Amino acid sequence: MSSTTRFALVTTAAIAAIGIALARGKTVPAEEEPTQPAPEAPTVAVSAAPPPAPRLFPSPLPIPIDVLPAGLASLSAQGCNACHAAAHDTWATSRHGSAWTDPVFQAAMASVGDSTLCQSCHLPIQNQHARIANGYVDGAISRPQLVQNEAFDAGLRAEGVTCVACHVRTLPDGSATVLGTHAASNSPHSVTVTTELQTPEFCATCHEVTWPGADQPYYATYSEWKASGWATAGATCQTCHMAPTTGARVPGSNGAGPAHTFAADPSRALTALVRMPGTIHRNEPFDLSLTLQNTGAGHSLPTGNPGKAAIVTVVLLDGAGKELAPAWSQTFARTVDAVAPYKTTADTRIAAGGQAAATHRYTPSVKGAPGLGFAEVRLTLGKLPSVRTYVLTRVPVSVE
Ligand code: HEC
Ligand code: HEC
Ligand code: HEC
Ligand code: HEC
Ligand code: HEC
Repeated sequence: MSSTTRFALVTTAAIAAIGIALARGKTVPAEEEPTQPAPEAPTVAVSAAPPPAPRLFPSPLPIPIDVLPAGLASLSAQGCNACHAAAHDTWATSRHGSAWTDPVFQAAMASVGDSTLCQSCHLPIQNQHARIANGYVDGAISRPQLVQNEAFDAGLRAEGVTCVACHVRTLPDGSATVLGTHAASNSPHSVTVTTELQTPEFCATCHEVTWPGADQPYYATYSEWKASGWATAGATCQTCHMAPTTGARVPGSNGAGPAHTFAADPSRALTALVRMPGTIHRNEPFDLSLTLQNTGAGHSLPTGNPGKAAIVTVVLLDGAGKELAPAWSQTFARTVDAVAPYKTTADTRIAAGGQAAATHRYTPSVKGAPGLGFAEVRLTLGKLPSVRTYVLTRVPVSVE
C-alpha cells in the first residue's frame, strides 16, 4: 500500500466513525445547549434516526458516483481487495467481474454498433463511460446526445459490474457511503445498513429486461423466479447464488461472508429420473424413459441470455466405459429472432418446478462387454466455446 493511500485511510477514519455512530442509532441528547448548563434539568434522550439508506438504483443506469466514501482511497476493486480478499477473489472470477472484458459481450456489442444501451448494465457506473448522454435528441432514448466524460476512469471500466456498483451510493448530503448488510464498528470506511442488498428486486435491475415491442422479456430471470415456489418459500437469488463461504476476512467481520462468484451449483439444478430394464441384452432394443425435473434452479433452466442451452445426454456404457450405443441428447433452450425486438421463436426450457419427459430406444452393440454397465445422465450448460458438463446420475444395469 502506498503512503498516500495509508494517509487517506488514517485521516478519514474519524469522519467514518461519526458516520458509523449515526448508522448504529446511537442515542444523543436532544435540545442540547452547552452555553447554558443546567445540571438538574432533565435531558430527554431520543434515538437519532439512522440516515435512510440510499436506494441502490434510484435513477436509470449508469448511476453517478462523484465522491469517494470517507475512508476509501479509490472506487477500484483493487482497493477493496486489500481488506476483503475473499469477496474480491471470488468476484474476480465471476462474470460480473468480466462483464466488460468478456469477448462474447464485446463481439455482440460491436455487432449492434457499440450501443450505449448495451453498456448500461455491463458498466453500471457513470465514471466507467468515456462518453455520456447529456440529453436526448427530441427526447428519444435511442438518440442520445453524447459528450466527453471528464470523470472517465479506464481502469474502473475494465472491472465491469464492480464492487461499487452494488456497494457505494451517494447520500442526500452529497457524501458517499458503503452499503452493507451489517453495522460494522471497526470498518475504516462508513457503512450504511440496507436491506435492499438482500432482495431479488435489486438483481432484477439488470436480470430482467424487455425490449420495446417484444412479446416477452429478453432476460426474464426475475419474473421466472417470482412465479416459482422459491419466491413463496423465501429463497432469493442470494440464497443460491451467494451462499456463505469462509476465507480470509478482516477482523470483526460478521461470520462467513457471501460468495461473490455468484455461481449456483449446476449439478443440483436438475433431478434426473431414469426408467429402464434392470438387465439389457446386446443386440436387443429396449426403451429408456427419462424425466427431468427442475428442482434446483430458482428459474427456468437455462435462464437469461437466449443464446444458452441446457443439453441433457444419456450415454450407455459397459463396465470398461465403452459406449454401448449412440448417445441420446435433448436440448432445452429459448430461441429468438435475430433482430430487435427479439421475439421468441421457440421455448423448450424447463420452468422452475416443471418437468420434461421423453423416451428413447437403444440397441446395445454386440461389441460391448457383458457384466455391469451404466446409463449415465450428463448435463451440459453454456454456449460454445465455453460449455461445462456435469454428471447428474449414474444408473447401474446388467449387460448380457
Ligand atoms: C452484483 C452486486 C455485487 C457486487 C458486484 C459485489 N457485491 Fe458484495 N455483496 C452483494 C450482496 C447482495 C451482498 C449481501 C449478500 C447477503 O447477505 O445475502 C454483499 C455482501 C458483501 C459484504 C458483506 C459480507 C458480510 O460480512 O456479510 C462485503 C464485505 C462485500 N460484499 C464486499 C464486496 C467487494 C469487496 C466487492 C468487489 C470485489 C463486492 N462486494 C462486489 C452484492 C455485490
Ligand atoms: C482498509 C481496509 C478496508 C478497505 C480498503 C475496505 N474495507 Fe470494507 N470493511 C472493512 C472492515 C474492517 C469492515 C468491518 C468488518 C466487516 O464487516 O467485514 C468493513 C465492512 C464492509 C462492508 C459491510 C460488511 C457487512 O457485513 O455488511 C462492506 C459492504 C464493505 N466493507 C465493502 C467494501 C468495499 C466495496 C470496499 C472497496 C470500495 C471496501 N469495503 C474497502 C475494511 C475495509
Ligand atoms: C448492474 C447490473 C447487475 C446487477 C445489479 C446484477 N447483475 Fe448479475 N450480471 C450482470 C451482467 C451484465 C452479467 C453478464 C456479464 C457477461 O457475461 O458479460 C451478469 C451475470 C450474472 C450471472 C452469471 C454468472 C456466471 O458466472 O455464470 C449470475 C448468476 C448473476 N449475474 C447473478 C446476479 C445476482 C444473484 C444478482 C443480485 C445479487 C445480480 N446478478 C445483480 C449484471 C448485473
Ligand atoms: C433455488 C436456487 C436458485 C435461485 C433461488 C436462483 N437461482 Fe439462478 N441458478 C440456479 C442454478 C442451479 C443455476 C444453474 C447453474 C448455471 O447455469 O450455472 C442458475 C443459473 C442462473 C443464471 C445463469 C448462469 C449461467 O452461467 O448461465 C443466472 C443469470 C441466474 N441463475 C440468476 C439468478 C437470479 C437473478 C435469481 C433471482 C431472481 C436467481 N438466479 C435465483 C439456482 C438458483
Ligand atoms: C438490462 C441490463 C442489460 C442490458 C441493457 C444489456 N445486457 Fe447483456 N447481459 C445482461 C445480463 C444480466 C447478462 C447475463 C444474463 C444471463 O446469462 O442470464 C448479460 C449477458 C450478455 C451476453 C452473454 C455473455 C456471455 O459470455 O455469454 C451478451 C453477449 C450480452 N449480454 C450482450 C449485450 C448486448 C449486445 C446488449 C445491447 C443490445 C446488452 N447485452 C444489453 C444485462 C444487460
